[in-house]
Amino acid sequence: MRIICVDNYDQMSKKAANIVASQLILKPDSVLGLATGATPLGMYKQLIKTYEEGHIDFEEVTTFNLDEYCDLNKEDEQSYYYYMYENFFKHININIKNLNIPNGRAMDIHKESLEYERKIRKSGGIDLQVLGIGRNGHIGFNEPDIKFEALTHMVKLDEQTIEDNSRFFDSIKDVPTKAISMGIKTIMHAKKIILLASGKEKAEVIYGAIYGKITPELPASVLQLHPDVVFVMDKEAASKLDLEKLKEEYL
Ligand code: F6R
Repeated sequence: MRIICVDNYDQMSKKAANIVASQLILKPDSVLGLATGATPLGMYKQLIKTYEEGHIDFEEVTTFNLDEYCDLNKEDEQSYYYYMYENFFKHININIKNLNIPNGRAMDIHKESLEYERKIRKSGGIDLQVLGIGRNGHIGFNEPDIKFEALTHMVKLDEQTIEDNSRFFDSIKDVPTKAISMGIKTIMHAKKIILLASGKEKAEVIYGAIYGKITPELPASVLQLHPDVVFVMDKEAASKLDLEKLKEEYL
C-alpha cells in the first residue's frame, strides 16, 4: 500500500488525474474502473484539461463504472450514467461503445450482473480502478458486512449511505434504496487501485481502512491485501494517521 497525502482537495485531484494520465500514456488501450460521488469530480475536471492540452487520448480506452442506482432512468439527473456523461464522457474522445455502466433498470439484475462480470473479463480485466470511500467504509456500494467474495450484484443501501447521498437529491425520500455494484472481489481483481479521500469526515474511516483489522464490517479494509493500491488523500482525510510512521512503513 502506498499513501500520498497532499494539502487540499485540488492537489488530491491533480495527483489522482496524473496517476490516471500516466496509466493511459503507458497503455493507451487501458481498461479503467471509474467511481462517481463528490470526491472524483476534481479529478475528472483535471483529466479533461489534460486531454484538451493534448497530453492524453481516450480513443482506445474502455471504462467500467463501479455502480448504478436501481430504478433510475439513464436520463435522470441523479443517475450515475448522467453524472458520468455530464462530468466526464461528453468532454473527451471516448468511444461510446467502450463505456460500461451497470444497468440499474435491468429486469433481471442477476443476469445483468453476470453479464457485467463477463464483459470485464472479456476486456482483459481492469488495469486501474478509481475508488472513493463512504463514511461507513463502503467501496463501490459494498456496504458493511458484504462478503469479500462478492462479484457484481444488487445491494441494499445502508441508512448512512442514503443519508449521505441525500445531499444530491431534493429529499431523502427520493434516494433509491437499492443499487447494482461491482463486488469486493471484482474490485480486488483490478491490477492497480487508487482510492481518493478528502475532508475530515473521512478521517476516521481512512484510519480504520489502513490500520484497522481486515473485516467486512469496514469493506475498504480489504484493500490492505491488494498488491498495488495507492491512497491519495488531503490532509484532513489523513488527519488521524501518523504520517511520520507511515513514511517508514509504506513509502
Ligand atoms: C460511487 C461509489 C461510492 C462513493 C462513496 C463516496 O461510485 O462507488 O463508493 O465513492 O460513497 O462518495 P463521495 O465521494 O460523494 O463522498
